[in-house]
Amino acid sequence: MTNGIRGYTFVRNMKSRIIVDRNQFIAETDDRLFSSFIEHLGRAVYGGIYEPDHPEADDQGFRKDVISLVKELGVDLVRYPGGNFVSGYNWKDGIGPRSSRPVRLDLAWHSIESNQIGIDEFYDWSVKSGTKILAAVNMGTGLPREAGELVEYCNFPGGTYWSDLRKKNGHEQPYGIKTWCVGNEMDGKWQTGHLEAADYGKKARETAKIMKWIDPSIELVVCGSASSDMPTFPEWDRTVLEYAYDSVDYLSLHRYYENFNNDTDFLASWANMDHFIKTVTAAVDYVKTLKRSERTVNLSFDEWNVWYQQNQKEHDWMSAPPILEDHYSMLDALVVAGLGLTLVNNADRVKIACLAQLVNVIAPIFTEKGGRAVRQTIFYPFKDISLYARGTVLRTCVQSSTAETKYGSVPVMCSAAVVSRDGQFVTVFCLNTDKKDVHETQIDLSSFGKAQMISWQELSNHDMNAKNTCDAPDTVVPSVKECTGGKNGVFEVYVQPLSWNVLRFSI
Ligand code: AHR
Repeated sequence: MTNGIRGYTFVRNMKSRIIVDRNQFIAETDDRLFSSFIEHLGRAVYGGIYEPDHPEADDQGFRKDVISLVKELGVDLVRYPGGNFVSGYNWKDGIGPRSSRPVRLDLAWHSIESNQIGIDEFYDWSVKSGTKILAAVNMGTGLPREAGELVEYCNFPGGTYWSDLRKKNGHEQPYGIKTWCVGNEMDGKWQTGHLEAADYGKKARETAKIMKWIDPSIELVVCGSASSDMPTFPEWDRTVLEYAYDSVDYLSLHRYYENFNNDTDFLASWANMDHFIKTVTAAVDYVKTLKRSERTVNLSFDEWNVWYQQNQKEHDWMSAPPILEDHYSMLDALVVAGLGLTLVNNADRVKIACLAQLVNVIAPIFTEKGGRAVRQTIFYPFKDISLYARGTVLRTCVQSSTAETKYGSVPVMCSAAVVSRDGQFVTVFCLNTDKKDVHETQIDLSSFGKAQMISWQELSNHDMNAKNTCDAPDTVVPSVKECTGGKNGVFEVYVQPLSWNVLRFSI
């Protein structure tokens, strides 16, 4: 049998096997693994979550249609306010009467920042959208003292200057923000106030001390490398931790992938992410041993996605420029699916992960000014993983053909299996990156004794360039496949080439 996928011809009958052993635990997923990111960048805030003259705007100017899509994604934390933006941001510009807030130049994104949204409004939005804030403090132009003042403003109950100012500004109760990023990508020369590793390590340690003295219940993320491609990786990570290990709880990882006209390499991005996570884990554990520490620092993959950085263009100074507005294809959705599964399979060390970002800026949700909001293709794999990967991750043994890529020989099948928290279901996620072959796949759940397939959802399209637009929002949407009966807990399914599959079983 043949069919066409953007010029590829595929034939039936490659065999694959996914074995799931109910006794092979990786970890319980942390809800924060299903997090995202809103930065003061482009139209993420202004024209994204906030558009006061939009017909769907609520009494605070937040778009209700966007809120409902954020809820549909099941996002846990939302990292805020940056990103590169935070390294030049004075959080005090964004509080108090709006009419007296200063308009500033945002040097990170060559933009004009009106400061109409600040921490108080964003807190309200987080409540409305059912999310929590992963707050970031400025380690570029900002001082440790100012980071502490922000913790006091947000989390201290009252009776002090900053906490009483929060009350005066309309919020009697503290925000209780539990997780904080101590800066952003401080290894990057593009970062406002970039530092060398030792300088940042010391500054982060002293900032962390102040922040935790004000609220000992908070957890802190220290900046790791901005990418595994950084020339200073992984020495940066080791050095920073040698100063800050005892004061922080997580080390950050950031990584974006884009297609440089080689679909095979692009589809194997997940293998590179896996290697990155394992390498960073080794660096963290090296420092742990060096310090004879009892505590384990875990990982916060607080920026990940597909991002076509090659498409970025210069623009004039303006408010909310329409920048980084990638329109994602079916192919991009497959890559995002593989990255999401890799985070799940590393849930023993990755506790926080943020799809960067959430609205308009390299995002699963796209909005028209004054108009519609659309689910981009990448919306679906994120939603599937967010919905069904909460629970106990089991190690899957995947047997499939491999593809030769710049990351080495990579299995064309990528999988993860998660038992739901109530113990009643196991979800097997299955990504087929094979460009030609349908895979006759055995899903072996025999270790569960009895299992019954209850649903199978597939995301695929004959055109890997297919995208969802405002006029054609349902070009790439999941479809329901027919369930098959198993034999002794082994299920035979035909997995389409270039497809993303979510198979659920009652156990
Ligand atoms: O998410 C876009 C940008 O990517 C962030 O501002 C920065 O941290 C990263 O380089």
